[in-house]
Amino acid sequence: MSRKYVIAGNWKMNKNPVEATALINELKPLVADASCDVVVGVPFVDLPAALDAVKGTRIGVAAQNCHWEKSGAFTGEVSAEMLKSMGVGYVILGHSERRTYFGDTDVTVQKRVRAALDAGLTVILCVGEYLEQREQGVTGEVVAMQTKIALGGVSEEEMARVIIAYEPVWAIGTGRTATAQQANEVCKLIRETIAGLYNAAVADSAVIQYGGSMNAGNAAELLAQPDVDGGLIGGASLKPADFAVIVKAAE
Ligand code: PGA
Repeated sequence: MSRKYVIAGNWKMNKNPVEATALINELKPLVADASCDVVVGVPFVDLPAALDAVKGTRIGVAAQNCHWEKSGAFTGEVSAEMLKSMGVGYVILGHSERRTYFGDTDVTVQKRVRAALDAGLTVILCVGEYLEQREQGVTGEVVAMQTKIALGGVSEEEMARVIIAYEPVWAIGTGRTATAQQANEVCKLIRETIAGLYNAAVADSAVIQYGGSMNAGNAAELLAQPDVDGGLIGGASLKPADFAVIVKAAE
């Protein structure tokens, strides 16, 4: 079992193109020797600047959403094909903020995953429970269902381009991180879900990240867990020095 770690930043709705270039330029020397994969997830308008800034490095660039149709009357949307045509490699899908504020459902997430894989992108698929769900003891059911529906129709071969990010909603942007044990427990459950859908080999090679208030101080412990293969980092990804510490912790 030799999974590579993937550390991805989710900038959310932060930084304009000029600021994006500056942030990436600051980050580049700090992660130049990284042995894990490093990705920055930027707003759509920052994609050209980010793609330009990462040239000559191994840093990947992610969009934060994509639509499931190739083109058409979908005002305000961006297709997976469009992202691919620019040279974008990754797309974050199913983030809890998309689900909570913009009406994304398990079914629309599935459609977006399908379109992204068809376009040749690598997907960072977010799943995770609300606090009430954890308190009611249904975390496992919720996360397994989100995972199963999102992966509906995804082939074994395509799973090589799917990264799953376990992000408990109560830990996102709250400073309240899941314990390393909680993170590992659910990442392990996601791996078992993948084993059930596919087989042990696909599950063993699947990259499963933890996200939710991961920072320079807690990353090492979270990333040391056997089933945690990286992180999806919001707030701390906007601070190059902190993000670089997390990248180092993945090595
Ligand atoms: P956070 O965000 O690190 O700021 O909690 C994580 C995410 O939303 O992906």
